[in-house]
Amino acid sequence: MKQLLKAALPRSFISQAVGIKDRAQLGALPSMAFDPSHLRAAGDVSLDTWLNDQDIAEAWQKDSPPITNIYGDDDRYGGVNPGDRRALYYLVMALQPQNILEVGTHIGASTLYMASALKRSGAKGKITSVDITDVNDVETGAWKHVGMNKSPDGFACELDCRDHIDFQTRTSLQFMTKTDERYDLIFLDGDHRAPAVYQEISAALPLLNDGGVILLHDYYPEAQPLYPDNTVISGPFLALERARKENPSIGSIPLGALPWPTKQGSNYTSLALMARVDG
Ligand SMILES: C[S@@+](CC[C@H](N)C(=O)[O-])C[C@H]1O[C@@H](n2cnc3c(N)ncnc32)[C@H](O)[C@@H]1O
Repeated sequence: MKQLLKAALPRSFISQAVGIKDRAQLGALPSMAFDPSHLRAAGDVSLDTWLNDQDIAEAWQKDSPPITNIYGDDDRYGGVNPGDRRALYYLVMALQPQNILEVGTHIGASTLYMASALKRSGAKGKITSVDITDVNDVETGAWKHVGMNKSPDGFACELDCRDHIDFQTRTSLQFMTKTDERYDLIFLDGDHRAPAVYQEISAALPLLNDGGVILLHDYYPEAQPLYPDNTVISGPFLALERARKENPSIGSIPLGALPWPTKQGSNYTSLALMARVDG
């Protein structure tokens, strides 16, 4: 019945209903700690320079064709859209992180673009990609359900970047509250509900190396639509707004319009960086 109702209702209506539930559940959560001391200062974020860098553009021309052969030049398999994949590649090339933590592997689209940038930049570290499901399982992996012919692990071997990836099957919080590793970039693209992202941000901040950044996906500024389909995923925005109210030194920098297309004929991305501002 629930599935039938979901199929019959417009997606924009469903996203509004989810937003209302998200606000209520977030409001019921007790306050958590947010330590922004390791975050990169907002003044050291140069998105225009990074996204228009000619050396990175040349590297992209070399590295992207074999990955795009796998994931396509649209978002037919799910995963982040092609424009966002390119933005992730550029950010990794620009920020030169040694260690990356990703929450939400799914089919590995974001993972493989970031791993390829890590490899290109000569990083000694790796990308640890955590998912609540075993993304490489031959029966239950998302890759199988969406009709891909290999798991993220298989594609990583094919692209010769397997050494740069550590796949972990755990919830984000199970992983983040146990690990002793520290990261230069943490990408949150797992459970997009506000209470989950609020807890993930609190857990992620202490895991950053000095000058590190947290990158959110599906961040819709002011919980307003970004694309023509009028849908909104409000959780990441609501979660970060609450964290910022509780610690005004945390700033949000939405990437906004990219120099290339993302999806639905738009150049807008839902990627947003977290950086430290003077509170
Ligand atoms: C939108 S998909 C990620 C897409 C991926 N970044 C890509 O480009 O292919 C979200 C993923 O997060 C995972 N997920 C959901 N809740 C999670 C949690 N609490 N901890 C870890 N992973 C979670 C889901 O299983 C799903 O695979």
